[in-house]
Amino acid sequence: MARNTVLTMQQQKRDGEKIVMVTSYDYSMARIVEASDVDGILVGDSLGMTMLGYPDTLAVTVDDMVHHTAAVSRATRDTLVVADMPFLSYASPYDAVMNAGRLVKEGGANAVKLEGGARVCDQIRAIVDADIPVQAHIGLTPQSTNAFGGFKVQGKTVEVAKRIVQDALDIEEAGAFSVVLECIPAKLATYISEQLTIPTIGIGAGAGCDGQILVYQDMFGLSGDFKPKFVKQFAPVGELFAKGFASYAEQVRSGDFPAEEHSFAIDDEVMDQVRKG
Ligand code: KIV
Repeated sequence: MARNTVLTMQQQKRDGEKIVMVTSYDYSMARIVEASDVDGILVGDSLGMTMLGYPDTLAVTVDDMVHHTAAVSRATRDTLVVADMPFLSYASPYDAVMNAGRLVKEGGANAVKLEGGARVCDQIRAIVDADIPVQAHIGLTPQSTNAFGGFKVQGKTVEVAKRIVQDALDIEEAGAFSVVLECIPAKLATYISEQLTIPTIGIGAGAGCDGQILVYQDMFGLSGDFKPKFVKQFAPVGELFAKGFASYAEQVRSGDFPAEEHSFAIDDEVMDQVRKG
C-alpha cells in the first residue's frame, strides 16, 4: 500500500473512491490496521470511554492523547494517523496550535481532529497556518454531550440541519482537509457531501458520505451491551476472546497448559548440582 496523506484522501473523493477509517489507540491494534486495507486511523478521544472506562470523552487530556497517538504512530507507516484534540484543548487559537503541535511532535500524528463548526474556524485557520492538517467534526459532537443533553442524532429540524450545512461550508473555507459527520440523517449527509470539495467521513450518517469511520470495539463486539443502530458487527472478536480466556483458565487449572513444548529445558547435571546446593 502507498503512503496515505491528506492529499491522497482528497484525491480519493475526486476519484469517487470511498475512504476507510477506523479508530485505534495502541500499538498492537494499529499494527493489524496497518497490515489491512484501511486508509486512515483516528486516535479518537473515544479512548476515554473504550480504553479508560470514563462515561464520556470529557476527562481525556492532551497527555492521554499524546501517549496513545505515539503508540499508534510507532506501528504505522502507510496509514494516515489523525489524533483527536480533547475537550478544551483548543479553546483559543493559541491553545489549538500548541496542543496540535504536541500531537504531531510528540505523538507523530499526521493530522489532528477537532469538534465544532463556525465557532472553531479561527482555531482551524491557526492550526492549518502552522502546517498541521485539520479534520473537522460536526453533527453529534461527543464533547458537547452536556449541551446536547446526551448522545443524540442531530440535524432533524430545518434550523439545526441548516446550521450543520453552514458549519460544513465554513469549515471547508477555514482550510480543514476533511470533516467527520456524526449521527445526522443520511439525506442531510449526502447533501453536505455534494456541497463540499473536501471529503466527508460518516459515522451514523449513511452511505452518501465520501468515507466511513467506526470505533473498532463497536465493530468487533468489544463494547458490551452498547450496540448503536449505525454499527455493524464485522467479526465476533469479543466472543472469541471470551472463549479463549475460558479455555486458558480451564487448561491452567487442569494442568494441560503449559505443556512441554511451552517450557524451557535444563541439563539434568545442572539440576543435580542445583539440588546439591
Ligand atoms: O473519538 C472518536 O472515536 C471519534 C469518532 C467517533 C469519529 O470522534
